[in-house]
Amino acid sequence: MNVIEVNGLVKNYGDLKAVDNVSFGVEVGEIFGILGPNGAGKTTTLEMIEGLRQPDAGSVSIKGIQVWPDPGATKALIGVQLQTTALFDYLTVREMLALFGSFYRLRLTREKIDGLLDAVSLKDKQKSRVNELSGGQQQRLSISLALVNDPEVVFLDEPTTGLDPQARRRLWDVVREISSRGKTIVLTTHYMEEAEVLCGRVAIMDAGRVIEIDTPKDLIDGLGAEVKITFRSDRNLELAELKSATGASDISKADDGYVLHTSDVQGSIVGLFGHAQKSGSAIENLSVSGADLEDVFLHHTGKGLRD
Ligand SMILES: Nc1ncnc2c1ncn2[C@@H]1O[C@H](COP(=O)(O)OP(=O)(O)OP(=O)(O)O)[C@@H](O)[C@H]1O
Ligand SMILES: [Mg+2]
Repeated sequence: MNVIEVNGLVKNYGDLKAVDNVSFGVEVGEIFGILGPNGAGKTTTLEMIEGLRQPDAGSVSIKGIQVWPDPGATKALIGVQLQTTALFDYLTVREMLALFGSFYRLRLTREKIDGLLDAVSLKDKQKSRVNELSGGQQQRLSISLALVNDPEVVFLDEPTTGLDPQARRRLWDVVREISSRGKTIVLTTHYMEEAEVLCGRVAIMDAGRVIEIDTPKDLIDGLGAEVKITFRSDRNLELAELKSATGASDISKADDGYVLHTSDVQGSIVGLFGHAQKSGSAIENLSVSGADLEDVFLHHTGKGLRD
């Protein structure tokens, strides 16, 4: 059953189609990801679902209730992660939670606040001031603030941007913990690894449009090419020649080398070195790996996720 239904959403800023006819459904209890590069329209899409930005066209409903024109009707069902800049520096973690409870006219009991702190593993920081928290801890606090009204759906807009890999992993655990409490989660990210390990399904977005929606596995399997070979060369290699020499299904030039997809690893590598020898160029940093969501994006848009 879908808890969120998005149908033909459009948002224009002047001539710019920030969100261009976007439709998808989010199932109860799933972790749904919107993956895309800067400016793809992820935040704008999220804000229209959250009731913060009015669409130019299309409709959104949460639990069958239309968000527009009266977003007040769905407010009690959702929790929205605020950006850390909106936090009040001189309040303690516990005080922040109590304050946010009061925004919803809730008097949070001690047990309730303990539960929220547990969900984001901030119990040991409950008496710390916000400005004494690390970036990752602030992100976790802002997620707990999205949970004070016990929402059914939680929206997280790039919850791990700017965090180091270790803090990112801890945050993934927090997201999983919230999910295990039965909440539906919609998050945006431009980290393909995050979408891959965390999300049940992923909508890949670029230039205002949803390109594909599926489980990470099916998106990757849909590429058909089983492996990816990356390498560098001391010379500029002709892509068309390389393609015919290696029998690759596709080949592209990335910022620091070449990326080639193939279903015949051995044949392609032999072909690659043969071609290198003939053209007198050296092949360096060769690696072979399985395809990932980055490759899915590359396949559909002809460019990388990172800019
Ligand atoms: N208030 C606004 N006025 C004009 N243009 C806007 C406004 N908000 C967003 N845009 C433009 O709409 C497009 C989509 O922006 P959006 O913030 O939704 O992208 P995003 O996918 O969230 O990107 P990021 O990964 O950088 O957060 C961008 O080109 C952006 O410049
Ligand atoms: Mg954004």
